[in-house]
Parts: sequence; C-alpha cells; structure tokens
Amino acid sequence: MRKLMIAGNWKMNKTYTEGVVLAQDLADELKGADVKVDVVVCPPTVDLKGVSEVIEQSEAPFELGAQNVYYAESGAYTGETAPNMLEAVGAKYCIIGHSERRGYFGETDEDINKKAKILMEHDIVPISCCGEPLEIREAGTHVQFVVDQIKADTEGLEISDPSKYVIAYEPIWAIGTGKTATADDAQEVCGAIRQTLVEVFGAETADQIRVLYGGSAKPENIAELVAKPDVDGALVGGASLKAADFASMVVKAGE
Ligand code: 13P
Repeated sequence: MRKLMIAGNWKMNKTYTEGVVLAQDLADELKGADVKVDVVVCPPTVDLKGVSEVIEQSEAPFELGAQNVYYAESGAYTGETAPNMLEAVGAKYCIIGHSERRGYFGETDEDINKKAKILMEHDIVPISCCGEPLEIREAGTHVQFVVDQIKADTEGLEISDPSKYVIAYEPIWAIGTGKTATADDAQEVCGAIRQTLVEVFGAETADQIRVLYGGSAKPENIAELVAKPDVDGALVGGASLKAADFASMVVKAGE
C-alpha cells in the first residue's frame, strides 16, 4: 500500500527567521497529533539549515525537502546548489521540474531527468512535477501532454525503491489561482500517470510510486482528493505557509 504524503512548497516565501518560526509553529501544531501520512516541508534554500534544526530539536513529525538542485556534483555553476549540499543540511526530498521553474527559468524535461538521476544517487527523493497549461487543458489534450512529460522525465531512470520516487501532478491553471481541479480531474490525470509508470517501470514498481496532486489544495478539499484511487497526497503551496492549515491537511489526509 502506498503511504499518503502531504508536502509543503513554501516557494520564495519566508526569510530565515520567519522560516524557523513557521517550522516551529508546524511542529507545535502537530505535537501529539496522530500523523498517519509522510509530511515534508520544502523551504527556500537559505532556510534549509534552520528548518532542519527545528525538526531535529523538536523531534517534529515531518522531513525536510529542497525546492531545486543542480545536476552536477560541484564546480563553476554560480548560484546553484549541489546534491551533497542538500544532503549536508538534512534534506531528504527535493522538488524538481516545478512549472514555475519550467516557465520562468527554462527548465526542460532533460534537465529534470538529470536532476532526478543525481538526486537518487544521493538518496534524496525527487518530487518530480508535471502538469499542463490552460490552453492545453482547453484543447482537451492534457492527458497526452502529461504522459509525454512523464516519459521524458523518467527516461533511463532506475528505481530500486519505488517509495523513493514521487510525482506531483500540478495543472498550471490551478496553481495559486484558487481554482482546484475537481477530484475527478485529478484522478483522470493521476490515473494516466500510473498507467504510464506501468509501461515504463512495470506494474509492481508503478503500484508503489506516489502520485501527488497540487494546485489550490487546502483543508477543505484534501479529503476528497486523497479519496481518489491514484491520488496519493498533495503538494501544497499557499496553504503550507499557514501552520494551522497545513497541519489540518496532514490530519485530514490521514483520516
Ligand atoms: P498552490 O497550493 O498555492 O496553488 O500551489 C501549488 C503548487 O504549486 C505547489 O507546488
């Protein structure tokens, strides 16, 4: 059985001090709660160390993730972060291929594929994002669009532990807009992603890879989303910046 996951993507929000406070607030909210899902928070790079210390000192029931990585071990790549640097501050997960990185920073499927490979060499779990823009959704070709992304992003990937590779389906038109895809919309594409994973990795592996939904997920809709057979949790943006909301999603997803 796949264990559900609720992951928070803080995006470019929270200074170091604010990040430490938010992580501490979340640890306090979840203290004594019956946490039945895997919980991950992904702060900005400069906040990682501080959040890592909060997790350790509070024995908080969540793990640390980064929002990006570069696909080289070290060298002349000004401004980038290597996988061993993430490892050194305690990051266990890393988001790759978010639509904001694809859109604003020109990240390609080839880059995302390389990032997944180097992360897995470092035992950091990729949370690999995919999802269609509004015009593709309106044209009705969204399933094929996402299937093509998954095929390109997973090319040549060898997965020995399927619990350590995560996909997040985030339709771009639903991100930060308040427009959530319906649970049926999410299931349609997450189901197609699962089928593609069966083709790429075989049924046994595909059955254990978590496929999250992202895009205006919040306490009010999380239960309906995770009730769908191929939706294994959520990658949460806005609602992850409020400790009480995010904690409530963690609890509701586990009910
Ligand atoms: P929102 O939850 O703010 O729509 O963001 C979703 C997202 O992009 C998470 O990575």
